[in-house]
Amino acid sequence: MIKICFVCLGNICRSPMAEYMMKSFLKKKGEDINYYITSRGTSSEEEGNDLYPPVKKILDLYGIDYDKHVAKKIVKEDYYKYDYFVCMEMSNKESLLRIFQVEDSSKIILLLDRDISDPWYTRDFESAFRDIDIGIISLYKKLSFE
Ligand code: 4NP
Repeated sequence: MIKICFVCLGNICRSPMAEYMMKSFLKKKGEDINYYITSRGTSSEEEGNDLYPPVKKILDLYGIDYDKHVAKKIVKEDYYKYDYFVCMEMSNKESLLRIFQVEDSSKIILLLDRDISDPWYTRDFESAFRDIDIGIISLYKKLSFE
């Protein structure tokens, strides 16, 4: 089983979008039993909160199922629980290195080869959805060829 934790700043917009989009993608492929998927934030700002309402709206629009979400901040011990930490932007990688305090950063990767803009600030949930969708397809390809 491959265990993936998607990471963003608040864990109410991008990383849970990626979590639920990846779960939906894997289910359609019949591959959901081979993966464990979750998400975390690097900040405690939104801890305990549900998905941001515009995120629910765009997931509904594209027919992606989601659960009652509870935002969580990543902790040092999480480093040992997952095979990959898939970050939405470079600053998430830097925060993880600070939190984990480990030599080996090979598990910490970016979803795209560039930052995915934060829709919390840009208000552009459609672009975030499109970027995450592209990222998930390339992540799946990468993992299934390993
Ligand atoms: P996210 O967006 O990192 O994609 O979940 C944010 C949500 C909330 C905040 C920052 C980013 N905030 O500062 O509360």
